[in-house]
Amino acid sequence: MKVLVTGGLGFIGSETVVALLEAGHEPIVVDNLCNSKIGVIDRIETITGVRIPFIQADCRDKEAMDKIFSSYQIDGVIHFAGLKAVGESVKLPLKYYENNLLSTLVLIQAMEEHGCHNLVFSSSATVYGDPGELPLKETTPLGTTTNPYGETKKMIERILTDYAHVHPEFNIALLRYFNPIGAHPSGLLGEDPRGIPNNLLPYVAQVAIGRRDHLNVFGDDYPTPDGTCIRDYIHVLDLAEGHVATLNKLNENPGLVIYNLGTGKGTSVFEVIKAFEKASGVKVPYVVAPRRSGDVTANYANVDKAEKELHWKAKRSVEDACRDAYNFQKANPEGIA
Ligand code: NAD
Ligand code: UFG
Repeated sequence: MKVLVTGGLGFIGSETVVALLEAGHEPIVVDNLCNSKIGVIDRIETITGVRIPFIQADCRDKEAMDKIFSSYQIDGVIHFAGLKAVGESVKLPLKYYENNLLSTLVLIQAMEEHGCHNLVFSSSATVYGDPGELPLKETTPLGTTTNPYGETKKMIERILTDYAHVHPEFNIALLRYFNPIGAHPSGLLGEDPRGIPNNLLPYVAQVAIGRRDHLNVFGDDYPTPDGTCIRDYIHVLDLAEGHVATLNKLNENPGLVIYNLGTGKGTSVFEVIKAFEKASGVKVPYVVAPRRSGDVTANYANVDKAEKELHWKAKRSVEDACRDAYNFQKANPEGIA
């Protein structure tokens, strides 16, 4: 398939481009580089031997999107493009609503006009809010989100669901990612946040290479066995492979489908630190700090539906992901050039 990958130079997008190439698909990437580097294209080429077609454009730019659909016979779209920093979204809500909603609306319009009917959308476990019951199933009612970023995901899910009702020719997959971590084992691709990392793994990796002196563990007084929050950490390569499996599913014309992409296993912050230390052989100094507002105590996925219907399963462990994240950080101490 010729697959348009929006946001395809980002953390999850770049790994997915590699997975698509390895599965014999032809990815075409559009990215405005607001949170990624052009050098990722060379790195994808080093890994796969393929120079991918790349268009630097904003998904909100209808003319640019039309041009892409006119130039390539696109069979399907994976829509990663979006802003994702939870804290920033609280401070700059309009920036998040504008970017995330508008890019999706413009994309759908362009797809409709150009007769492209297969879409995979990057949603998030954040749409479940503070879960009453675990593990989370796709049928678990959506909860109250705690920030504008999460709300954009919930709103876009609703928009795409409403749209799919009246466009039976469309196949749309809403993929609810749990916590993607890790990096490409080559050390060439990985998470490269600008400024101070918001997320646990990139922060731990920067502490491990001495770029930051310690990790703040946000709360050890949660009602969990060791007092720290529990998440379902999934290796980004497993997540990338989940997208390839989803494209195969869309070829069966299923209409609108929803899948949790996780491992089904919860891991605490302290367990992540231990796994990282074991995988890297490096001590990760930490300080217990106050809880971070908006954090839920625990979430992890029920992954039965994805395993059964996508014939896909997360295979890699948290320790594998920690090893790969550490190697990437060591090889790129200041990130990707
Ligand atoms: P990322 O920031 O690394 O990648 C997103 C890419 O989209 C970047 O390369 C950025 O430059 C590009 N982009 C943003 N707005 C754009 C626009 N308007 N037009 C064109 N390009 C644009 O993020 P990621 O971690 O790879 O996440 C990919 C998607 O998955 C996002 O939609 C994110 O919300 C979602 N998601 C991520 C996580 C996570 O923890 N990483 C969890 C759940 C969902
Ligand atoms: N944490 C720390 N110290 C840090 C960073 C994080 O203790 O410096 C803790 C958090 O309190 C939380 C856990 O590590 O308990 C994971 O935090 P992350 O920020 O890595 O991930 P979140 O679960 O908060 O959020 C992630 C994505 C969101 C997505 C959400 C879905 O970043 O995009 O999962 O559940 F919406």
